[in-house]
Amino acid sequence: ATRSNEPGDELTVTYRELLQRVCQFANVLKSQGVKKGDRVSIYMPMVVELVVAMLACVRIGAVHSIVVISDECEPEWCESEDPLFILYTSGSTGKPKGVLHTVSGYMLYAATTFKLVFDHQSDDVYWCTADIGWITGHSYITYGPLANGVSSVLFEGLPTYPDVSRMWEIVDKYHVTKFYTAPTAIRMLMKFGSEPVQKYKRESLKVLGTVGEPINPEAWQWYYNVVGEKRCPIVDTFWQTETGGHVLTPLPAATPMKPGSATFPFFGVVPAILNESGEELEGPSEGYLVFKQPWPGVMRTVYGNHQRFETTYFKKFPGYYVTGDGCRRDKDGYYWITGRIDDMLNVSGHLLSTAEVESALVEHKSVAEAAVVGRPHPVKGESLYLTISINTDICLCFAVREKIGAIATPDYIQNAPGLPKTRSGKVIFI
Ligand code: PRX
Repeated sequence: ATRSNEPGDELTVTYRELLQRVCQFANVLKSQGVKKGDRVSIYMPMVVELVVAMLACVRIGAVHSIVVISDECEPEWCESEDPLFILYTSGSTGKPKGVLHTVSGYMLYAATTFKLVFDHQSDDVYWCTADIGWITGHSYITYGPLANGVSSVLFEGLPTYPDVSRMWEIVDKYHVTKFYTAPTAIRMLMKFGSEPVQKYKRESLKVLGTVGEPINPEAWQWYYNVVGEKRCPIVDTFWQTETGGHVLTPLPAATPMKPGSATFPFFGVVPAILNESGEELEGPSEGYLVFKQPWPGVMRTVYGNHQRFETTYFKKFPGYYVTGDGCRRDKDGYYWITGRIDDMLNVSGHLLSTAEVESALVEHKSVAEAAVVGRPHPVKGESLYLTISINTDICLCFAVREKIGAIATPDYIQNAPGLPKTRSGKVIFI
């Protein structure tokens, strides 16, 4: 008989020992008042003691009834358009929107994009480093991989702990074949050079994915040359919380890559580039990225506010789904995401609305007005650049008033970058 799930942790029981144990436990049952004809329910895992308990009942003529445990629940049948989950994402008006996805379309899309974009094979070990609180973790840690029966690595820790080789150590430990992360993580690790990567073999790797923000060609090259040793195609997957799964993406080894381009639409996705007046541009062009028809995984509504769903995505260019991203199409038909063209910022692959940050700032009593813009950042992609006007007068007046009394409330405050001082540091004011 084996015991527990740990290799080497096992137990052998002879028939003589089994009889002894059965008799011992039968006596325990008798001492508890159990007698012939009584029913005894047994609720135990797959251990030797379960067999002992069954036979102990039989020994004293009691009737055993095994309760099946750690694992059965009949599924509730749902309609294909029933809601599956809500995930909140920043809205350009400042209030987050509850993006609602439904049972069948979303799962079908997550499963199909996963299978084709990562070229899933039965012996794969897949690892996506995203947080499950983000759409990437929903579609490509939970639903897509599980629907394909993949062996996955789920990582709770930090990619830099105990050192910056952690990711590659895990790749070697579990023989990860398909790896999916964000440009911000690549840029952060790139700062430490190639040596922490090359400490590990990474021989198992076959496909490398990226998601969340445009990947700059330098980071792409490092990922391709150093991490994947020019062996692993890079899938630069463009998509959104709203799209449920990849919408512009290469298929590994099938689509010739261009560093920094999410290449072409996935099956069933029909993109277009519009100019400011909503006209479709042909050939090489740059403008608003929109989609012309729905695909199974597209969001169905903004939870509790269908009007907002229509206004946000379909009002500016009626008949099109508006992504909010700018996009360029080159002479070969490749799509290049140029970044957000609404009031959204993408910090480390996470979208923030400028209005959301501004309203957080003006809630503070010392801030009178605030304006937030994005500033290029070498690791985060974009960072927050705040311009604020401070209620200095209010704050400082209060400080004097609180300490000394209402009579001492100042009328004027002059802002000065420095003050003239004597050699001993005493301020002189003439
Ligand atoms: O601006 C695009 C950028 O991330 C936005 C979507 O953010 P979110 O809903 O949080 O979902 C992120 C994970 C899918 C997009 O509107 N984005 C996402 N992937 C890429 C990208 N920008 C360029 N290239 C990508 N591969």
